Amino acid sequence: MCGIIGYVGPGVSDRPLRVAREALARLQYRGYDSAGIAVANSDGLSFIKRAGKLSVLEEALAADPLPPASAAIGHTRWATHGGPTDANAHPQLSYDGAVAVVHNGILENHQVLRQELIEAGIEFQSETDSEAAAHLLARAYAELGDLPEAMRAVARRLEGTFTLLAVAQDNPRLVVGARRTSPLVVGLGEGENFLGSDVAAFVAQTDRALELGQDQVVTITADAVEVTGFDGRPVRAREFRVDWDASAAVKGGFATFMEKEIHDQPTAVRDTLLGRLTPTGHLQLDELRIDESVLRSVDKIVVIACGTAAYAGHVAKYAIEHWCRVPVEVELAHEFRYRDPVVTSKTLVVAISQSGETMDTIMAVRHAREQGARVLSVVNTMGSTIARESDAALYTHAGPEVAVASTKAFLAQIAATYLLGLYLAQLRGTMFPDEVRAVLRELEQMPAKIERVIGGGDAIRELAASMKDVESVLFLGRHVGYPVAMEGALKLKELAYIHAEGFAAGELKHGPIALIDQGQAVFVVVPSPRGRDVLHDKVLSNIQEVRARGARTLVVAEEGDQAAAAHADQVFWVPQTPTLLAPLVAVVPLQMFACAVATVKGLDVDQPRNLAKSVTVE
Ligand code: AGP
Repeated sequence: MCGIIGYVGPGVSDRPLRVAREALARLQYRGYDSAGIAVANSDGLSFIKRAGKLSVLEEALAADPLPPASAAIGHTRWATHGGPTDANAHPQLSYDGAVAVVHNGILENHQVLRQELIEAGIEFQSETDSEAAAHLLARAYAELGDLPEAMRAVARRLEGTFTLLAVAQDNPRLVVGARRTSPLVVGLGEGENFLGSDVAAFVAQTDRALELGQDQVVTITADAVEVTGFDGRPVRAREFRVDWDASAAVKGGFATFMEKEIHDQPTAVRDTLLGRLTPTGHLQLDELRIDESVLRSVDKIVVIACGTAAYAGHVAKYAIEHWCRVPVEVELAHEFRYRDPVVTSKTLVVAISQSGETMDTIMAVRHAREQGARVLSVVNTMGSTIARESDAALYTHAGPEVAVASTKAFLAQIAATYLLGLYLAQLRGTMFPDEVRAVLRELEQMPAKIERVIGGGDAIRELAASMKDVESVLFLGRHVGYPVAMEGALKLKELAYIHAEGFAAGELKHGPIALIDQGQAVFVVVPSPRGRDVLHDKVLSNIQEVRARGARTLVVAEEGDQAAAAHADQVFWVPQTPTLLAPLVAVVPLQMFACAVATVKGLDVDQPRNLAKSVTVE
């Protein structure tokens, strides 16, 4: 989820640098842990790159300006492989300095390529997967003498997702790009052309753009654009007009980052799952630096987190206990530290955090380590404090989450903890390899299922409009539906400022049912009727109990579950999904509902009152 810009213009001037700087400023929301720019002129390539926010790069550029040029490429990074350091920042230079490359995505086969290049005598300067692409491109360019052809040859060897841009030391008149799955779009100017990870990169310069398809290579010069497949066959790209202003462009055309990030969820889950399987079909969590023998000896897992991250931990509890047969406790980080928990060297503490900077969770991590526990963090922000202070980190690849209320990070955290559970089950032998692979195959289908649920927004928006003045909403769920209910309540509280409570459906008759009065809105997350049918029937009974007392039942149920629909005032269908994976789709209608109610109430969806994106104080 990095920001990328490419530019070629007429003659030699400081415009390439200006265009690149302006683009990176707009693209910061796509990644901001490091940034860099390379420019090309007849003297060759010059570049500056720095870890830290864009302001650090700007200071470096002010102190040591890049020369006038005819072409430029630029990059704001959201680290996935290798922390935010100057060396890991992009552009990545090839071993011979012949080409500079910027990359967005995850190269699944980068370890294999890296090994091949090291054996060829190439010394790597960074920890990134992207550097391997730079070296490969230089070798192909030296052999073929044509940068577009070299890019096509390299693109055919890469696995995973990528947008690559390259500029060559000996040819400052063109920039070449390649894309597979990661975004890339062409901006058409007068005597100049642009490439961007999205239209925000060049919307201030032109409103004419070309859409690029999958597995395509694009070459831009000042007055021409050529698009081919990876096989070299010419492709006609569709031109479109960018009718977004700069602000809308940064949000991908959505009115809010929240909506954009809800729509980004399939990609966030897909990217979190990418590159975790070895060629032999075994899970590899290469960031884990905890010895396998230690993981085998773990006799308890304690998840520590806050807010939405804690609800992801609750989902993880059901999955990891089922797959690994190890007890999993889920603790609010701010409670864990003060209750004198029983923690030993055989305890694995899993700290879940999007920001990696939540002070409550940092302090809990420190406390756990003081007690001798191993700490593994599931974080979205590489190089963050929690990641640095853990024994190991498993990264969610959700990209920067700008909206204060967490959505895509939540789904990515759930996906990452599923991977952790399957990895531990594989390691401890509590699941056969074919069982692990069966769950992974189901997981790989989840992005498409999430996409389908997101497509059902009209009914949710209608419901939201009818409920904008409601004063209280209850959310019920059982099993993995219970943390989904709690997360749905939290979303409504923090976005629409409506009192909401999520609780275990079985708890209803132990008190909360007294809350049910005529018209009380109750969301119910119904488990799959194909899974543990006893769970399904129990929840149907709960729906009938509240409906009999006047509740308005809003049911999230699996497609085809007519038994659930029979007791619902309104049903939000989700695709058929294995019980343990259901939270990845069941929470989406609840996220969309909270966002829609906040929108219809005219509230600040991205920055709700009283909240901060990262709670860095205790
Ligand atoms: C999420 O919607 C909330 N804004 C909040 O609960 C958040 O999940 C919590 O503060 C933890 O943040 P972290 O994941 O960055 O540690």
